[in-house]
Amino acid sequence: MSKVVSEHVKWVGKIDWELKSFHGNELSTDKGSSYNAYLVRGSKKTVLIDTVWGPYDREFVARLQQEIDLKDIDYVIMNHNETDHSGALPELMRLIPDTPIYCTAKGQTIIRGHYHEEWNFVNVKTGDTLDLGDIKLTFIEAPMLHWPDTMFTYMDAGEGEHILFSNDGFGQHYATESLFDDCVDKSEVYHEAMKYWVNILNPYAAQATKKIKDILAMNLPLDIIAPSHGIIWRSNPTEIVNKYLEWANAYSEKQVTIFYDTMWESTRKIGEAIAKGICEEKPEYTVKLFNAGKEDKNDIATEVFKAKAVLVGSPTINLGYAYSIAGMMELIKGLRFKNKKAAAFGSCGWGGGAVKQLTEKLKTAGFEVANDGFEKMWVPDESVLKEAEEYGRNFAKDLD
Ligand code: FEO
Repeated sequence: MSKVVSEHVKWVGKIDWELKSFHGNELSTDKGSSYNAYLVRGSKKTVLIDTVWGPYDREFVARLQQEIDLKDIDYVIMNHNETDHSGALPELMRLIPDTPIYCTAKGQTIIRGHYHEEWNFVNVKTGDTLDLGDIKLTFIEAPMLHWPDTMFTYMDAGEGEHILFSNDGFGQHYATESLFDDCVDKSEVYHEAMKYWVNILNPYAAQATKKIKDILAMNLPLDIIAPSHGIIWRSNPTEIVNKYLEWANAYSEKQVTIFYDTMWESTRKIGEAIAKGICEEKPEYTVKLFNAGKEDKNDIATEVFKAKAVLVGSPTINLGYAYSIAGMMELIKGLRFKNKKAAAFGSCGWGGGAVKQLTEKLKTAGFEVANDGFEKMWVPDESVLKEAEEYGRNFAKDLD
């Protein structure tokens, strides 16, 4: 089923209500996702922008054929060639093998690397255009947002139809039949947009800021942003653009995020006592605790992103720290958060050491480590819990 986006554009993608994880199991997608592809019909030429993930290739092509005779597609534009967007290319190109594929030079390399086919590639750069008759398309390279091949396509079809096809940029893993931002729960969408930003785009925050500023400097009219995942922004497209500028600039809220794992509850009790101290010192702050062994890793990472300060807790086990904490540390190191204060805490039996190791790991992950951490032996009694509260109060003192 296709859906109308605007006078000249139809959505011809796939809504994936069942998707629960993405990039293998690297990213949870509790709200499903969509792979948005668009058919743009000009007075002289017609283009398809992007395809869908491979498992839906036949379904995608069959539905596309209900919309248009494939021979009437003059060009295929591939804004980005990760398999969730290029996966249906082989099935499509089997039927229209000579149709030109417009993509960046890196895009061509990536398509070849995936599908090992010699299709009719046309490489484009920023400023190159494609004339569809009454519609002009302009290509804007956006390398590392989030792959080297990424580009945006800007469409000028006149009044009310200035559309930026931004691929992953401004997207969210969010399944909806409603298509537009003004037809869904905005708070849900923004939650998913932030989770997407944190877990996919935040490592490239500098590139995102520069690219957005470059595009804003072009002074292009903008009516709609049509990403390749989730809803289409049409009610106020600059709102998500401004959110991206905020998120890309070492974003934080008045929040402290504490995540930990615990074997026999001692590390949990210390974490909760530290939280109590923080709340007493900074009652205006939100303090959240997560057991990393039980909660979703990407949701915790999103809460770390929101925080001005982070505490990481683990018992010492096998001379190191807990398995779930090791995974979290690797994840948040890769996400390259900035300007966040941090410290470690935990409990131990005989040797200890997890807190010292976590403190070092936090430094290498780019956090501003406040102190050597808080580590106590065995089960915390009242006096240790009081010490932990005091530690929390001191930790929070210089938060603004
Ligand atoms: Fe949605 Fe980078 O693929």
